[in-house]
Amino acid sequence: MAITLGFDVYGTLIDTAGVTAALTPFTGELAPAFSNLWREKQLEYSFRRGLMQNYKHFAICTRQALDFSCSAMNIHLSEQEKDLLMANYRTLPAFPDVQEALPQLQEFGFRLFAFSNGRAADVAALLENANVNRYFIDVVSTDEIKSFKPNPAVYAHFLRRSQSSGQEAWLISGNPFDVIGAQSAGMSGAWVKRSEKALFDPWEIEPAIVVHTILELRDAISTTRL
Ligand code: 2OP
Repeated sequence: MAITLGFDVYGTLIDTAGVTAALTPFTGELAPAFSNLWREKQLEYSFRRGLMQNYKHFAICTRQALDFSCSAMNIHLSEQEKDLLMANYRTLPAFPDVQEALPQLQEFGFRLFAFSNGRAADVAALLENANVNRYFIDVVSTDEIKSFKPNPAVYAHFLRRSQSSGQEAWLISGNPFDVIGAQSAGMSGAWVKRSEKALFDPWEIEPAIVVHTILELRDAISTTRL
């Protein structure tokens, strides 16, 4: 049975810190801190909306997190400037290993899917902009069931949409909460530890494999016995 790989998008294939350059004219040297807070709040809002079952799509979480970050850091932006930053979020860059690794994984026979909190059209546009959309069989979005990671229902939705089962499906993610969510829901998780400083949550659930770039995935997955 062919192995299915579900790639998380923001923080795994696409570098959310790429927005730092666009932030700098507005925030100066606070840009990296602003970018981190924006990302943390975006995820927090998705977690909370998932738990509350009060769904608004991911771009709304992103926009509301931008408003919060501006207030928290005392940065005054016009609606037009916020729109500009949101537009930048739609053209974020891919991490440097992505362009080389995806065709290798595809040629090896893995079935590749993008699997994201982002709406399918937003994710497809992002992957198109990074010139990697063609390597994916499809984009699976949690928006299709109006919820967010790490609700176990979204991982079950991924398995249904990709016509795979937990035994042969991997979630590939740079986000520890996503890896833990996938493993808890019966998939195998590969954590892409993109920085030496990145920490995995000290829970009872560990990733099946840890890689530093997705170029290591082919060997790591094909030699792993679950
Ligand atoms: C994604 O689903 C979690 O932001 C991450 O793309």
